[in-house]
Amino acid sequence: MKLAFTGKGGVGKTTVASLLIRSLEKDKRRVLAVDCDPDANLAGALGFPNASEIIPVSKMKDLIHERMEIKNGTPIFYKMNPRIDDIPEKFLNKMGSIELIAMGTVEKGGKGCVCPESVFLKSLLGQIVLGEGEDVVMDMDPGIEHIGRQTAKSVDYFVVIVEPSAKSATTAQKIKKLSADIGIKDVFIIGNKIRDDKDKAFIQSSFGRDAILGMIPMSERILYMYKKAGGELEDKQVLNEIEQIKNKIFTEEKEHAGK
Ligand SMILES: Nc1ncnc2c1ncn2[C@@H]1O[C@H](COP(=O)(O)OP(=O)(O)OP(=O)(O)O)[C@@H](O)[C@H]1O
Ligand SMILES: [Mg+2]
Repeated sequence: MKLAFTGKGGVGKTTVASLLIRSLEKDKRRVLAVDCDPDANLAGALGFPNASEIIPVSKMKDLIHERMEIKNGTPIFYKMNPRIDDIPEKFLNKMGSIELIAMGTVEKGGKGCVCPESVFLKSLLGQIVLGEGEDVVMDMDPGIEHIGRQTAKSVDYFVVIVEPSAKSATTAQKIKKLSADIGIKDVFIIGNKIRDDKDKAFIQSSFGRDAILGMIPMSERILYMYKKAGGELEDKQVLNEIEQIKNKIFTEEKEHAGK
């Protein structure tokens, strides 16, 4: 299935996405990790040894321009359906059964501007076809800018990370609403950095129990893991919660498939 992790800045999208990816890997699933945050750090969180050397797709200007059939600079018209079937291979960084693509930064033009790089990246995401035992986990940039009609083509579910703060809950509510507008199958909420029952109650009162997949405690070990990227997390409570969240996602997926 295709999951996209979203939420306010700093709530733990990259951390929780990387923990889920590792847990899927342990289940022998093949995972494509997609770093959609221009400020890319998913590879580091996952412990890719060459994380800082990974070249994002957006840097491959020549290739993008070739596929978009652009000659001599900025075109007025360009191909809206570039050939991309052979592209993922070129950008895949592999570690065990995890493969990773970093999307990179796309210069934002004026309102309504669709630059070739952004069309290319969206086509690339949209064409990923999954087989049995395969998942795509996307780590999105903070906020709500990435949520557009195109997103729905490449995402089945949004996983919204919420920390116990009013701002993070407000962003999550906005994401929920926008997701419904663009036809995302479902939105899952995960509480993160939970310190006590008050924090839990805050998240529950903001979203209702049914929408919440789990609550991940505030963990000093996570901070530590993050500092030395790639280290195994030694926090049973957090790892158990991730396992339960993963199982709930698969249960939801089965229910959706049966609908
Ligand atoms: N459950 C947790 N307990 C303690 N610290 C956490 C927890 N989850 C995340 N953090 C810490 O919070 C910080 C932000 O986490 P992370 O980078 O995953 O957030 P993000 O939402 O991806 O941020 P950004 O919006 O910048 O991409 C990191 O220092 C991370 O170690
Ligand atoms: Mg992040």
